[in-house]
Amino acid sequence: MSAPDYDPKQVSLLDAAQLEAAHAAGLAAFAAAASLDDLAHAKTAHLGGQAHVSLANREIGVLPPAAKGDAGKRVNEVRRALEAAFDQRRAALEDERDQRVLVEERVDVSLLPGAVLQGARHPLTTIQERISDVFVAMGWEVAEGPEVEHEWFNFDALNMPADHPAREMQDTLWLAPEGSQVVLRTQTSPVQIRSLLARGLPCYVVAPGRVFRNDALDATHSPVFGQVEGLCVDEGITMAHLRGTLEAYAEAMFGSHLASRLRPSYFPFTEPSAELDIQCFACRGDVALQPCRVCSNEGWIEVGGCGMVNPAVLVACGVNPERYSGFAFGMGLDRTLMFRHGITDIRDLYEGDQRFTQAFGTEA
Ligand code: DAH
Repeated sequence: MSAPDYDPKQVSLLDAAQLEAAHAAGLAAFAAAASLDDLAHAKTAHLGGQAHVSLANREIGVLPPAAKGDAGKRVNEVRRALEAAFDQRRAALEDERDQRVLVEERVDVSLLPGAVLQGARHPLTTIQERISDVFVAMGWEVAEGPEVEHEWFNFDALNMPADHPAREMQDTLWLAPEGSQVVLRTQTSPVQIRSLLARGLPCYVVAPGRVFRNDALDATHSPVFGQVEGLCVDEGITMAHLRGTLEAYAEAMFGSHLASRLRPSYFPFTEPSAELDIQCFACRGDVALQPCRVCSNEGWIEVGGCGMVNPAVLVACGVNPERYSGFAFGMGLDRTLMFRHGITDIRDLYEGDQRFTQAFGTEA
């Protein structure tokens, strides 16, 4: 045998024993790979660009042409064997993973779904719409006004000038700076003024909304509460229209079995003025038989104030009181809701406890 015409050191990687060792090491690494990640690392080490078989392949180039075929065949055999082992191991590991996912991510389609709570509007919102609906059905419009109001709308135009004692009936929250003449409205009555100025005549509006007073929260008071204002100004309006309208309202809200009555009262913006009382739903006025805690034995429950619009208010809005007259009313939304549902503590309406609101269902 003639001496080789290449340097054997340069092609040591092609040595049969070394190739066989690389083959064995690759097979062992693939077999030992416990996960697809491990297997990917093993592939880089044993079949990647720097792996023994790849480097050995490059050495073939320095062999004499006659020796290349044989060397190439041997390297290829090892590479193919390693690739086959890799493919086999990958298939096995993928299969294992799929089996595991099927178990771990199993969905029991027969399980009952958990309760999905459905949100609902607050009973104060729904009652305000219910009241508005009663008047809309009579042809009235719904009006809105700002909660931050100028003193003139909240008091002066309503015939309550600065020194009027009735102002003290309504503990007012004034907005800074001092002297700004801006208040958190104490009543929805300023919407009367805004409606007369903006809408013209005749005017039939209801205005539900929030009002604010400097009161501490207890079972019967809240610094924020709801009112609904009503105003009708037209030609020939009399107290009979007021009486008839409120009677229709009381019947629609509380049912025809409870009587309503007007009791003389005083408000600066109405003359004459009255309180609207509804017969107590608990005792229906039959207090002689047993004491009634709901109405404190009165037999009646007060739900709001009303009266014929004071001509001074019409004049403040540029309306001729010789030609036009009207009536107005203002009712507490909270009181109405409490009366209608037998709620005894106003705090229940503002604390946001779902155990309270859920009893009202999910009325849209
Ligand atoms: N604004 C009054 C209050 O908050 C309620 C009221 C009484 C409004 C009589 C009216 C009315 O429109 O005519 O106490």
